[in-house]
Amino acid sequence: MTVRHALEGLTEYLRGAKVASARLEAEMLLAHALGLDRLDLYLRPERALTEEQHRRVRALAQRRAQGEPLQYLLGSVLFYNVKLRLSPAVLIPRPETEELVELIVKDFLGAPPQRVLDLGTGSGAIAIALAKAWPQTQIVAADISNEALAIAEQNALSNGVQTQILFVRSDWYSALTGSFDLIVSNPPYLRSGALDSVQREVRCEPRLALDGGPDGLDAITRIIRGSVHFLAPHGRLYLEIDADQGERVRRLLLATQIFARAEILQDSSGRARFARAVRSA
Ligand SMILES: C[S@@+](CC[C@H](N)C(=O)[O-])C[C@H]1O[C@@H](n2cnc3c(N)ncnc32)[C@H](O)[C@@H]1O
Repeated sequence: MTVRHALEGLTEYLRGAKVASARLEAEMLLAHALGLDRLDLYLRPERALTEEQHRRVRALAQRRAQGEPLQYLLGSVLFYNVKLRLSPAVLIPRPETEELVELIVKDFLGAPPQRVLDLGTGSGAIAIALAKAWPQTQIVAADISNEALAIAEQNALSNGVQTQILFVRSDWYSALTGSFDLIVSNPPYLRSGALDSVQREVRCEPRLALDGGPDGLDAITRIIRGSVHFLAPHGRLYLEIDADQGERVRRLLLATQIFARAEILQDSSGRARFARAVRSA
């Protein structure tokens, strides 16, 4: 079997399994299985696969057809120019979260915060992207999942920012001390009842990373209430939220009475996906 035949066969197989971008995913999976770049598939299409390579491609194809997300099969993802290793213990970082990082970096342009807290760090995506953007900043990255923290620490190391980030196992703020100029979180915010009807790929991600309780606001409420004790004067809180949570999140922010300003902001597709609040003195 040649590379060209394998690519055609894999594309058809994935299409039959209702994978949306079958050709692109076939290219990525085949290149991954063969240890090549995607371009190499087209530069040497007549190259023959070994029996072992063939077996590897088949195994990946079957897992993808059964709904395992592409990113878990590839084992890594690019997030805001940071390469992150992934496992099913961590959420696959999303483009909206990259937009949140972009927004934060823009807001602090020229005056990066000194102390940052990333709550629910998962793969470490937000903490590592911010550490790379702000080499003088110290970051605490917390998660309740030991498996997630192990992956996040490896990612910090492979991106050369391990000295800037302290990883802490914590149930939100429970194991933390000190105060922060910036608190950021992409918390679990889906309604528990909605989890059974999400895409099959999302069902492969950790429930702990997605389940926000009956109304989706359990984690958000705890993070906002706790910020009263952990946010420095003039400090800022940024949250990723679901598109229908904006008004309730704004009310939760205002109820703390510590914020001079609380806004709900849209992502690039016009959905209200972020909350930003600035603490008064
Ligand atoms: C939506 S994921 C976000 C992961 C990562 N920050 C990102 O943006 O890709 C939420 C994270 O919150 C963590 N988490 C859930 N409950 C928690 C809790 N009680 N305390 C701390 N972290 C928690 C999960 O383990 C998961 O890593």
